[in-house]
Amino acid sequence: MRFLRLALLLALASGFAAISIILIGLSDPFVSRTYPNYQLTDEDAQALLSLHATFQKCVSANGLGLKATRGTDYCQTSIDFPSDTIPKWRDPKTSELEALSFDFDLCEAVATWEQVRNSTTVLTKEFIDSLPNGWEEYAWRRINKGILLNRCENKTLCMEKLSLVLPETPPYFPKQFGRCAVIGNSGDLLKTKFGKEIDGYDVVIRENGAPTQNYTDYVGTKSTFRLLNRGSAKALDKVIELDEQRKEVLIVKTTIHDIMNQMIREIPIKVPVYLMLGASFGSAAKGTGLKALEFALSICDSVDMYGFTVDPGYKEWTRYFSESRKGHTPLHGRAYYQMMECLGLVKIHSPMRADPNRVVKWVPSHHIIRAARIASEKLLRRVGAGSDDPLAACSIIKKQVKRHINAVSELRKESRDHLSYVKSTTMYPLEHSPGHGFLCTVPTD
Ligand SMILES: *[C@@H]1O[C@H](CO)[C@@H](O)[C@H](O)[C@H]1NC(C)=O
Ligand SMILES: *[C@@H]1O[C@H](CO)[C@@H](O)[C@H](O)[C@H]1NC(C)=O
Ligand SMILES: *[C@@H]1O[C@H](CO)[C@@H](O)[C@H](O)[C@H]1NC(C)=O
Repeated sequence: MRFLRLALLLALASGFAAISIILIGLSDPFVSRTYPNYQLTDEDAQALLSLHATFQKCVSANGLGLKATRGTDYCQTSIDFPSDTIPKWRDPKTSELEALSFDFDLCEAVATWEQVRNSTTVLTKEFIDSLPNGWEEYAWRRINKGILLNRCENKTLCMEKLSLVLPETPPYFPKQFGRCAVIGNSGDLLKTKFGKEIDGYDVVIRENGAPTQNYTDYVGTKSTFRLLNRGSAKALDKVIELDEQRKEVLIVKTTIHDIMNQMIREIPIKVPVYLMLGASFGSAAKGTGLKALEFALSICDSVDMYGFTVDPGYKEWTRYFSESRKGHTPLHGRAYYQMMECLGLVKIHSPMRADPNRVVKWVPSHHIIRAARIASEKLLRRVGAGSDDPLAACSIIKKQVKRHINAVSELRKESRDHLSYVKSTTMYPLEHSPGHGFLCTVPTD
């Protein structure tokens, strides 16, 4: 907090009004949060207190020196590094060293990440068609130079640009896959031979330009999905060469680009390429790594992470396949991933956590998570908060485009159970929607 105030003063003193606005936007520890008119039941309050209590034990037991402390309300927690940690990363804008303490909102995290597990994170035509003014307001923003398309005035042209990456209905379902591994690109991967272990997962998700060739002892060979940022997506021709078997499905987290369309047609790229439809996490989750975890959580039962920089002793960001380059907020990232592990969302594997049988101690039980999630939804005034009906969170409901029955009958049991629980509804996240409501499509009968 002192750090932020100082940064703010510096920013104001140097006359960078814009920077100070960003700082205020990103960090509101100044504002103590209040929940007007809201009465938590004793049960809700108890659920959140149990979550904090177990969470704190979990961070101490698994965080390699990290410590969590509950803030002034039912939601805030701060995760602190040991005071002898030497931060190395400097904010390029303020040239401040990274702080050793980070505030997180556990209510927000538990409510939003649990929603991700039941959502569809691939952009479909069904979604755009169902969204009010979907083409004019949304689709044109997913096209590079969409600005020239003048809000899809010519809808045919817009559809043409998106057609190669736009399936009619979702290609994947929640819990479609069992055990999934998300592989980051950290140089730490070269410290442990995780290759065989990684190849043992049902699904392996890689990121950007990460190769497997020449590194298989460390990163394995299997590759099911690849998450791409803007730069990698433009080099689609290079990216497909990384996968010798040419089976990887490519998920682009930004916009479709004319260069991409041309490559898909001309090379030709035979694997599916999709655009990701993500939930909104505010400033917390923008990097490719977190998007890959989000994608994994939306299609897998369990998610394990490798190759993220999550061990003490951070010096500089290196990728396992190239020289060091600019990284960002490593301590913030490590704290955030530890939070995810201690909410039962992921399991971390790293050089210092290399035992594949490591048990994450003190992970809150499903019972605690569920009760805390319901309490959080109420506190955050989420659409459908506290309801037993899974469709209560839908703020827009539309009829579904007809799906292939086969696709559903071939799903594993966990996925079919989930589908029957949600009555075959597809739940699409609505970015920036107040109350985090979903766009839901329900079967036509
Ligand atoms: C709309 O775009 C299509 C496809 O590029 C084109 O054939 C058509 O002439 C355009 N229509 C108008 C009114 O510009
Ligand atoms: C693997 O090593 C060979 C020989 O050094 C090299 O030619 C090739 O480009 C490398 N592959 C990757 C993906 O780095
Ligand atoms: C997600 O679906 C599961 C059933 O598969 C259900 O138990 C759970 O409550 C749902 N979560 C949310 C946030 O709706």
